[in-house]
Amino acid sequence: MAFASVWNYCVPLTILTVACLVRTARCQAVQAENVTVLEGGTAQISCRLQNYDGSIVVIQNPRRQTLFFNGTRALKDDRFQMVLFTPRLVRITLTNVSVSDEGGYFCQLYTDATHHQVATLSVSVPPETPTVEVKQEAVEGGEVELSCMSPRSKPAATLRWMRNGREIPGVVSQQDNAKTFSVSSTIRIPVERKDNGAALSCEASHPALSGQKRIRHYRLDVYFAPTVRIVPPPGILREGDSLSLTCSVTGNPLPRNIQWSKINDTLPERAEISGPTFQISRLNPLHNGTYLCQAQNNFGRAADHYTLLVYDNVSVTTTVPPTPTTQPITSHPVTPTLLTLVFALDPKDPGAVQETHSAVPYAVIGGVLALLVFTVICVLIVTIWCSVRQKGSYLTHEASGLDEHGEVQEAFLNGNDASQGKKEYLL
Ligand SMILES: *[C@@H]1O[C@H](CO)[C@@H](O)[C@H](O)[C@H]1NC(C)=O
Ligand SMILES: *[C@@H]1O[C@H](CO)[C@@H](O)[C@H](O)[C@H]1NC(C)=O
Ligand SMILES: *[C@@H]1O[C@H](CO)[C@@H](O)[C@H](O)[C@H]1NC(C)=O
Ligand SMILES: *[C@@H]1O[C@H](CO)[C@@H](O)[C@H](O)[C@H]1NC(C)=O
Ligand SMILES: *[C@@H]1O[C@H](CO)[C@@H](O)[C@H](O)[C@H]1NC(C)=O
Ligand SMILES: *[C@@H]1O[C@H](CO)[C@@H](O)[C@H](O)[C@H]1NC(C)=O
Repeated sequence: MAFASVWNYCVPLTILTVACLVRTARCQAVQAENVTVLEGGTAQISCRLQNYDGSIVVIQNPRRQTLFFNGTRALKDDRFQMVLFTPRLVRITLTNVSVSDEGGYFCQLYTDATHHQVATLSVSVPPETPTVEVKQEAVEGGEVELSCMSPRSKPAATLRWMRNGREIPGVVSQQDNAKTFSVSSTIRIPVERKDNGAALSCEASHPALSGQKRIRHYRLDVYFAPTVRIVPPPGILREGDSLSLTCSVTGNPLPRNIQWSKINDTLPERAEISGPTFQISRLNPLHNGTYLCQAQNNFGRAADHYTLLVYDNVSVTTTVPPTPTTQPITSHPVTPTLLTLVFALDPKDPGAVQETHSAVPYAVIGGVLALLVFTVICVLIVTIWCSVRQKGSYLTHEASGLDEHGEVQEAFLNGNDASQGKKEYLL
């Protein structure tokens, strides 16, 4: 731009001006402009002429093949078009420019001596939106290695990893592939479970994008072992109620199969399982036990348990059928069991209740009688003892023994009467 080639006697620009002033008619010059175009775009190659006198103008490509000879197409390539040929300006266009079109295009003026100027065509290749490649999977507690790649750009694109508006410095590598560049930026970051789903992005910037960026968004996929939690039903469960448990499972990948089981037992026949839900309708105390929910993925396994206790219908007083009560008795606290028994007697034998009410005076009489019998027996024993003793002493003291004996006999008779009366009474 700063200087122009001249033909004939003309020398560099400063002198040229002077020279041309002197010999206006003869001082011809050609001036070429460098041009930069996006790949696939259209390049304009212009040769400015000064003091053109009708000489032949030749335009050549970087391989020095003649494209146009004084306005006439020479090379059979339709991408080149002569668009302008005036005494001041010769202009051709090149459509669908590729990087292989790069180089110096020659603007030549054939006169007494050949003179040329070179227009350098540069092709710019902006990057496509970069791609992200996982070099090392993100497992909880480990590190993830990610590469952001821009396979083709010219000049080389600049890649930046971003997270929450902050740059994560990466290791950049650049490869030259015949005029274009492949660029990558690799980061390694420690990951935890909470990072699962975190948003990262890789931004490619390039001079041809005029300040804009090509951004690839990436969500961290952090693998972690499952967690399992059974959501227990509120309140207590009674016989006849239905049980519904939900197993809430996390994990990445999310475990597909959720296994339900009962510890040391088989699952009840009535259990209905549908993925994370477990149901038993019409509970009965035989259903009690510990139920397990288990899940696993490639990174581990987890389980939670729920202990089911089915209570019996304590509030029920009159409508308890006698048969089912036998089952819950075993598992029940003592008081309700006794209550059930007492109430169970009630509707069965009303007469029994009446008897228990009138039983009090009978008991008193019975007690009195028992005391009487006891007394009689005592007297009897004493009498027998005395008589045995007197029989021994009878041989020595007859008279005194008789008196005594008479008294005892009377008493014995009386006692006998009393005991007989009691017997009758009882019968
Ligand atoms: C055109 O580009 C060439 C090669 O890049 C350079 O040497 C020359 O100085 C440039 N010319 C102008 C006028 O900028
Ligand atoms: C070259 O082309 C220009 C423009 O068409 C014309 O004026 C000039 O005479 C031509 N020169 C020769 C030598 O044919
Ligand atoms: C542009 O050139 C490329 C090869 O350089 C070719 O594949 C493509 O078809 C061309 N496009 C047009 C519109 O000619
Ligand atoms: C226990 O009570 C519930 C309602 O409180 C009732 O649905 C169920 O049938 C009762 N079970 C028995 C065995 O009586
Ligand atoms: C299951 O049975 C084993 C051995 O019989 C026993 O040690 C364990 O406590 C039982 N578990 C439950 C929850 O009943
Ligand atoms: C409830 O379960 C416990 C433990 O398995 C058991 O000892 C008890 O007998 C069970 N009760 C009933 C009514 O089945």
